[in-house]
Amino acid sequence: MQYGYFDDEAKEYVVTRPDTPSSWSNYLGSTEYGAVITNNAGGYGFYKSGAQGRFMRLRFNSVPMDQPGRYFYLRDMQSGDYWSASWQPVGKPLDSYKSECRHGTAYTKITSEYSGIESETKYYVPLGQTFEYWRLKLTNKSSSPRKIRAFTYCEFTNQWNTTQDQVNLQYSIFIVKGQKTSPNMIQVISHENLYEQHKKNPAVTDYMSEWMALAGSPVTGFDTSRQSFIGTYGSYKEPAAVVEGCCYNSEAFGDNACGTLQTDIELAPGESKEILVMLGIGAAEEEGKKALAEFGTIERADLEFDKLVKNWHEKLGSFKAVTPDEDINHTVNVWGLYNCLITFAWSRAASLVYNGERDGLGYRDSVQDILGVSAAIPEQAEERLVRLLSGQFSNGGALPVIGKDFVPGKQKMIDAGEFRSDDCQWFFNAVPCFVAETGKLDFYNRIVPYADQGEATVYGHLKQALLFNLERMGADGLPCGLLADWNDCLKLGYHGESLFVAFQLRLGLTTYADISERLNKSEEAAWALSEREKLDANIQKKCWDGKWFVWAIAEDGTVYGTHSIDEGQIYFNTQVWSVLSGAATPEQQKLCLESVKEKLATPYGLMLCAPPFVHADREIMSSVVFLPGIKENAGIFNHTQGWGVIAEIMNGNGDRAYEYCKAALPAAYNDRAEVRQSEPYVIGQTTYSTYSKRPGNTRVSWLSGAATWNYYSITQYMLGIRPQYDGLLVDPCIKHDWDSFSVERRWRNMNISIEVKNPSRVCRGIESLEVDGKKLDSVLVPVDLLHDGSRIIAVMGKNALPVRNQRM
Ligand code: GLC
Repeated sequence: MQYGYFDDEAKEYVVTRPDTPSSWSNYLGSTEYGAVITNNAGGYGFYKSGAQGRFMRLRFNSVPMDQPGRYFYLRDMQSGDYWSASWQPVGKPLDSYKSECRHGTAYTKITSEYSGIESETKYYVPLGQTFEYWRLKLTNKSSSPRKIRAFTYCEFTNQWNTTQDQVNLQYSIFIVKGQKTSPNMIQVISHENLYEQHKKNPAVTDYMSEWMALAGSPVTGFDTSRQSFIGTYGSYKEPAAVVEGCCYNSEAFGDNACGTLQTDIELAPGESKEILVMLGIGAAEEEGKKALAEFGTIERADLEFDKLVKNWHEKLGSFKAVTPDEDINHTVNVWGLYNCLITFAWSRAASLVYNGERDGLGYRDSVQDILGVSAAIPEQAEERLVRLLSGQFSNGGALPVIGKDFVPGKQKMIDAGEFRSDDCQWFFNAVPCFVAETGKLDFYNRIVPYADQGEATVYGHLKQALLFNLERMGADGLPCGLLADWNDCLKLGYHGESLFVAFQLRLGLTTYADISERLNKSEEAAWALSEREKLDANIQKKCWDGKWFVWAIAEDGTVYGTHSIDEGQIYFNTQVWSVLSGAATPEQQKLCLESVKEKLATPYGLMLCAPPFVHADREIMSSVVFLPGIKENAGIFNHTQGWGVIAEIMNGNGDRAYEYCKAALPAAYNDRAEVRQSEPYVIGQTTYSTYSKRPGNTRVSWLSGAATWNYYSITQYMLGIRPQYDGLLVDPCIKHDWDSFSVERRWRNMNISIEVKNPSRVCRGIESLEVDGKKLDSVLVPVDLLHDGSRIIAVMGKNALPVRNQRM
């Protein structure tokens, strides 16, 4: 079933039926002032942190999953009938209520029509501001004059700490106060003493106060008490004030607060009128008045909207493609990158699933997030990368989460048992990606402090990352799994060994050797390669299972992921990383990839392992707690899908890479959205596999490593435009029947267009390549040959030019 379509021209997803299989969400604002909003205007807002700065309440995991939100109730004052400008919360029958929602880049528009009145709402946060606009335009489509009363509604938290707000009621219901502060503005203050503190010392910014103002029409009533507006036995569907037809002018004094302004709009037939609601952080008399004076006109709001859209579209302009596959086009041109940018901004906090408690930067995830955004926002990627590098301890391991108050050099060392084994190995993906993107080879020489003490160059940090694992090897000469490797559910015991990390380490050593050569440090390169040789020998000695590589070896010597056991017999990550790291022989690579196809591929994506665990020791394989076929227990873990695509591409199998890509690609489910249920325009962390009772259902939208690896595998491997230190590699690996595709790529401040033709219908191999009319004998276009506006034309064919010199 289809609930909407992609409008790539406008960079919007258009929801045409509001009764989507789950609430389909979008993000507004920035990391200063963020918001989640759904296709039915549900959602919440937060200041700096979803957990500590939550000023708008959402009842998580409720029915429906997105209430309350940012509502406009509309009441026909002649008939008494009322509805909402978004289908929910009033939920008029869909045969008489028409609605369309356009989720765009940091804005959402909802247009609805009911009883001859068209409403258009538009929600966004102007760049750099800490308030949001809710715009409402009403048009009388009927033939008689109409009197419409509009009411706004949102629910404020009593405390900005979301957990406290929900559970500590004996405190929180006594601290909230609402009032009207001027003819068109209301204010809600919680915890007044903090607010007072802020007034005394503006550096204290975590005061809790919100204001809401109306421009363009007089306020004819208001409510700041939730109980008054909704009524003790009312609901969002039937709020007392709307049912009765009039606000109560309530001033909240304890209990719970809301933001309701009432206004009256008279419309002649065919007439339109627009009002502007502004809602922000701070005191009404100060921040509110100031914002209203400066931004409180339709003209200014239009200007701010244009600025916002331009800013986002600029970022999305870093990579554009036209391919024969529309789903890939939607992903590459709009949603794949937008998803990466939102994930980069909010990490794993703040969505309809994450209620903010996972605040801060989870180490391994955040390092990987760099891969998706380096081309679009190189400066921010650099700043983040440096912060992450400074989260590495001087012993080479990482702080598991970098909190907002983290200060490099001042961090207390964590216990040995708290280290994860994979965290810093992700440097070997992220750092070269960033350097090749920007050309800043000198980044390797930049001095960055360690989390606890001392400092090193970035190159030095990389060496420490290798040493950390090399100094923590288990009985078989493979890296210890420590608290977890990438897989949070794998508890091998401190000395158990992770083959996944062994492969990461192998890639790290190879990458380090390459960087060392470039920095003229041949001895270091030789050291890395000799360590790699030892590691390779240990891998081959202990980990080859005949048709695939094993998973891991526990402290007591138990081998996981081997053909002789029934549960978790084969593990996806070690197969594809044996390819990505180059550890597997060509013969092993083929066998591994065949085993993946045979045992792990489903129509919805590749399972993390199979068969699921039922009896496994929970202390080691804690994924056994998940129902079979979900998450780490033989679910389709979308974070890993890109690795499967890349592994197939490294073997030249464009057709299979495409098949895997499409199986897990959200856009590919647009016309059968009931299968995934989640938004067809964004990834989800996990998809139920065929071992479950609900194959295809996808959960945990938006914030996941799946965003990065999905976008990265398509743009840099499938379409194959992969920046290298000294040039741009053009090495696509596509579905064989694609006849051509084209890309516009921003790289080091140059706009480069690339046209790839495939007359012989091959998956991989560039036979001839020219840059601005000059023929090259390699697929690496040297940076000196490129300038802004350069045109690359590549023709694929069987007599392929050599591919050398590439980073992963
Ligand atoms: C979640 C975590 C990520 C981890 C993955 C697998 O996505 O955020 O860090 O690698 O689960 O367990």
